Amino acid sequence: MTQRPYIVGNWKMNGSRTMLAEARSIDRAAQRYPDVEIALAPPFTLIDALREAVSAIGVGGQDCHAEVKGAHTGDVSAAMLADIGADFVIVGHSERRRDHKESNAAVRAKAKAALAAGLGVILCVGETLAERDAGKAEAVVGKQIDGSLPKGEGIVEAIAAARLAIAYEPVWAIGTGRVAAIEDVIAMHAAVRARLIAAFGDSHAKVRILYGGSVNGENAGALLAAEGVEGALVGGASLTADAFLPIIAAASRPID
Ligand code: 13P
Repeated sequence: MTQRPYIVGNWKMNGSRTMLAEARSIDRAAQRYPDVEIALAPPFTLIDALREAVSAIGVGGQDCHAEVKGAHTGDVSAAMLADIGADFVIVGHSERRRDHKESNAAVRAKAKAALAAGLGVILCVGETLAERDAGKAEAVVGKQIDGSLPKGEGIVEAIAAARLAIAYEPVWAIGTGRVAAIEDVIAMHAAVRARLIAAFGDSHAKVRILYGGSVNGENAGALLAAEGVEGALVGGASLTADAFLPIIAAASRPID
């Protein structure tokens, strides 16, 4: 059975309580698109309130700590996210790899903790412009995948339950208005899929590969129709219902 496309809004460090109105509008509209799985990842401060405000869409965090609890001032664990009703967490976003020097090993530990807490995981990978220009994009992303995919006991079962997605987000396409060329997106998604097959065998089919980087209502149709693109991780264009809903509509296939 094919899975639904997955459209996720990453609000990053944006959002105040007034933006719950946007989430409510997105949630109401989401009910018209049952063939699309839709979710929002607001800042930690809004997860609880957003969870209360919506019913048709998923709610997740943008990061988690790898430990369950302890002396880690300012951090939030996957178990704490699960406790307040989060469905998933994003790990390894390039902004965290950059701002917090997160290594592949650290990202893997977070992904593992999140799956163990019963959360879904969106694991982000992507190359910089210098890496792409040097012809190293696939090698860099391959190394990120191999180094940060969760491993160990129970992981294959979690993945078979469709709790893992990969987001390919070329760093140079994030927040720049510059979208990767469709043929490059197709090639990279195929390369990621090959790594998933090598890592997880038959369970790989349950892992959706999303594209992220300047997705908007205008370009979403072409991106989501591209081979191997099973959803989108959207930043700026997920902050309002007006901007986000056309992306959801683009992911929706007419029901026969
Ligand atoms: P933009 O859609 O703003 O480019 O951000 C993409 C992103 O980083 C989503 O995680």
